[in-house]
Amino acid sequence: MANNHEIPAKMTAIAISQPGGPKVLKPETRDVPVPGPGEVLIRVHAAGVNRPDVQQRKGAYPPPPGASDLPGLEASGEIAALGDEISRWRIGDRVCALTPGGGYAEYVKVHAGSVLPLPAGFTHSEAAAVPENYFTVWHNVFERGGLKKGETLLVHGGSSGIGTTAIQLASAFGAYVITTAGSKEKCDACLKLGADRAINYREEDFVAAVKDATDRKGADVILDMVGGDYVGRNYDAAAVEGRIVQIAVQAGAVASADFSKVMVKRLTHTGSTLRPRTVEFKAAIAAALEAQVWPLLGTRKVAPIMDMIFPLTEAWRAHERMEEGEHIGKIVLDVE
Ligand SMILES: NC(=O)c1ccc[n+]([C@@H]2O[C@H](COP(=O)([O-])OP(=O)(O)OC[C@H]3O[C@@H](n4cnc5c(N)ncnc54)[C@H](OP(=O)(O)O)[C@@H]3O)[C@@H](O)[C@H]2O)c1
Repeated sequence: MANNHEIPAKMTAIAISQPGGPKVLKPETRDVPVPGPGEVLIRVHAAGVNRPDVQQRKGAYPPPPGASDLPGLEASGEIAALGDEISRWRIGDRVCALTPGGGYAEYVKVHAGSVLPLPAGFTHSEAAAVPENYFTVWHNVFERGGLKKGETLLVHGGSSGIGTTAIQLASAFGAYVITTAGSKEKCDACLKLGADRAINYREEDFVAAVKDATDRKGADVILDMVGGDYVGRNYDAAAVEGRIVQIAVQAGAVASADFSKVMVKRLTHTGSTLRPRTVEFKAAIAAALEAQVWPLLGTRKVAPIMDMIFPLTEAWRAHERMEEGEHIGKIVLDVE
């Protein structure tokens, strides 16, 4: 392992002391991880907060085998040490990374293929808000959903970290973007980000609204994080040959739906979770993002929407904020 400055043996990290509410997130002293072959150690400046962290805290989303038990799926900072077999990165490089866990800490080790340079002009807080959402949206909307220029994307939860990313990227790549959100304020934020139509799902039926907005045709791709009764309603809102991509089931994993619509409309209903995928898979997404999305981040054609920043030791407040559901965009932990 190579490093050129003193790396302490111990660090402060936020651990899940037991499954439960936000206050189970407690600072702990842990060993600084040692990067193995193909891994780098990042001295963390900022860490992103994501809904899956909340589920992990509640005991509903255990880390995959071999991953850190600490929460945190993304971080930004500088490379502090290199494991063997690293050619691209140098100590001191300013980077952000998708982490398999462990982002809520002063140091995190990560496979080099999940690391990307800090987008030009970005602060560490902004960069920490990028990886989890951009990797997820890129794979699910563009690779799995196959969204093309001129097609219509319906994205549920438009004001979420994922939603704000999907709206901006789909719009930047020439799609017509319809989104749902639970208040006028959230709908207005989505329109400002480039959505062509924002539906307040508490006041309007999204199926009827999507049909109205698309000349009865429906949406070519639907990114859904809701599940439950949205499954059947997505089939109604989809266009012929539509692709529905499931990334979460917040309203329920079990649903009853009219599957004849899958046949009649020749729909594809697919889905994925990012965290357990291989390092090779994540490296391929990182390469695609660097080639196609990093230039857009560098000119701020797309950028993470920053909601609030909390100190690392107050991670519980960040989780409280997320669970209150008032946030628009990303919540981030400041680790400096
Ligand atoms: N599969 C994957 O690889 C992957 C990766 C990352 C994240 N995810 C999932 O993607 C989702 C968004 O993550 P995030 O970190 O961006 O979270 P977030 O900012 O907390 O957003 C959650 C969103 O879900 C919406 N929502 C929740 N329940 C709803 C319901 N019953 N009906 C309609 N909308 C509902 C909320 O919309 P309103 O506030 O407007 O109600 C909110 O915008 C989470 O469910 C997360 O688990 C999946």
